[in-house]
Amino acid sequence: DVPSMKEHFKESFKIGAAVEPHQLEGESADVLKYHYNSIVAENVMKPETIQPEEDEFNWEEADKIVEFANENDMDLRFHTLIWHSQIPDWFFLDEEGNPMVDETDEEKRKENKELLLDRLETHVRTIVERYKDDVDAWDVVNEVIDDGEPNEQGLRESPWYKITGTEYIKRAFEVAREYGGEDAKLFINDYNNEVSPKDDHFYNLVSDLVEDGVPIDGVGFQSHIQLGWPTIEESKEAFERFVDLGLDIQVTELDVSIYGWPPSGEYNRYDEIPAEVLSKQADRYTELFDLYKELDANISNITFWGIGDDHTWLDDRASEHSDDGVGKDAPFVFDTEFNVKPAYYAMMGME
Ligand code: XIL
Repeated sequence: DVPSMKEHFKESFKIGAAVEPHQLEGESADVLKYHYNSIVAENVMKPETIQPEEDEFNWEEADKIVEFANENDMDLRFHTLIWHSQIPDWFFLDEEGNPMVDETDEEKRKENKELLLDRLETHVRTIVERYKDDVDAWDVVNEVIDDGEPNEQGLRESPWYKITGTEYIKRAFEVAREYGGEDAKLFINDYNNEVSPKDDHFYNLVSDLVEDGVPIDGVGFQSHIQLGWPTIEESKEAFERFVDLGLDIQVTELDVSIYGWPPSGEYNRYDEIPAEVLSKQADRYTELFDLYKELDANISNITFWGIGDDHTWLDDRASEHSDDGVGKDAPFVFDTEFNVKPAYYAMMGME
């Protein structure tokens, strides 16, 4: 057996993986138990699964993940209370079934805003009350900054924003604090927040929230990254600003794609990927974990967005963009059969 990742990094940070309930059995479960001390649901704690219809909560799938975490003494990240994606339409429809975003009447716009913030409160309160003793870190809001520059602050113009402005962000944190208590660790999570101009937009929003007394404990860097992007200097600078702000940092969705953007998807199977690509990936893992260790006093959790290369959302993206409709990615440190890759030795400093 190779050394356990969680043991290796136990003085520095937790090592996590995103999982679907079906991965909690068989070989993937063995790998999870041996190498990881934190898990997060890849999908089943998102709004569309948890509250598919108004006031109809569905806990079945989420509970499986909570139970696994408890049985195996793992930390649990909750992903995600509020998001613009994977959320059912009913959230943004008024009582008559009309899209709230289309409303032009001023009085009615106010009513809609109240209604949506009530729904937000119910959603957040119900979940936080149920899982407050199980969850170690909450993604309270996810991806509220946009990639482009839709407005000066870079705020994503989702229905949440169009209907409530930035009120929904504040309220989500306040409700999570109210029902989760002082011990709840509340995070704002985003992707590409290491690179300009999103790094500034993200930082400015978070520091404004902190200044306004919004109860926020930490920042999540999803870190869906590539072999050569972003640079390690960009990541370092982006992280260090939050150290100065006194916030906890977590890497929440790490995967290192073997492709650039858009992904060419040129390899159709794992065994077609050249050794030199896997070796470049290993170098990338070396520099990443060197950085994480350098900042380990301020980084509490490094979570991969999957376990092994058998199951990664990046395959869908690679396939979507590939000429023949099939693309295989290989972002993790375990291969499709859970054998360790060069990236494993690299992250463990065992090269
Ligand atoms: C992805 C899942 O991995 C996919 O299975 C699903 O189809 C779409 O969502 N940022 C996030 C995650 O915050 O929730 C996303 O997860 C990946 C990007």
